[in-house]
Amino acid sequence: MTISETIAHLRGSIPAVLPSLLMCDFGQLANEVRRIEAAGVPGLHLDVMDGHFVPNLSYGLPLVEAFRRMTTLPLDVHLMISNPAQYIERYREAGADSMTIHVEAVHDPRPLLREIRAIGAMAGLALNPDTPVSAVRPYLKDCDLVLVMSVNPGFGGQKFDRRALDKLAELRSLAGDELLLEIDGGVNDATIADCCAAGAQLLVVGSAIFGTSDYLASTRRLVELASSKTTRSPQRTC
Ligand code: DX5
Ligand code: ZN
Repeated sequence: MTISETIAHLRGSIPAVLPSLLMCDFGQLANEVRRIEAAGVPGLHLDVMDGHFVPNLSYGLPLVEAFRRMTTLPLDVHLMISNPAQYIERYREAGADSMTIHVEAVHDPRPLLREIRAIGAMAGLALNPDTPVSAVRPYLKDCDLVLVMSVNPGFGGQKFDRRALDKLAELRSLAGDELLLEIDGGVNDATIADCCAAGAQLLVVGSAIFGTSDYLASTRRLVELASSKTTRSPQRTC
């Protein structure tokens, strides 16, 4: 997909519940992708961890390529790695439609965000729970999305940090409708409506879907709860 196709697709799916495949059954990957597609999700969120930027290792290029072969859904790749500059092009080649780097990982995110766009993917910038909005503010014009972490990245199944809600509201008032806002970590039946009320449009969900036996039912419930608090804004036309 081109950047504008991916943006239009995601905007048309707001509130977009994006499953994080970190907690799926990797022994049955094709089946997991088939089941989550059948739940009607608008994209897949893929968590790449390097064991250095975060204290955990997950997966990298080969698995992103494998997901690409298994689905036509947009792949939203969350790069929790110390040296994203070295890998951006290869993740795009592997099939990433959106790539999010962490503001804490690089000295100057601007050239990287521009490179991500230049090679045809949506550019995202993430901030950890202890990082203030002021750290991403200078780069908002170079972002298609900002990812607010509501847990310290590295593991699924952690408790939602409510400071993320104030950050979402602050970002929304700074950036207006131009920017897609995504939230990741501890998003579940109890927290998703508050995320949407604060301005989140892309909701990353791991354990609240993959910890259930019926992905369709859990996704539907989350979308329903999210929809009750989502304010619809006009789609960007350029
Ligand atoms: C955390 C990852 C998340 C996480 C979401 O480092 O970026 O995508 O796996 O999982 P839950 O929803 O269980 O917090
Ligand atoms: Zn993530």
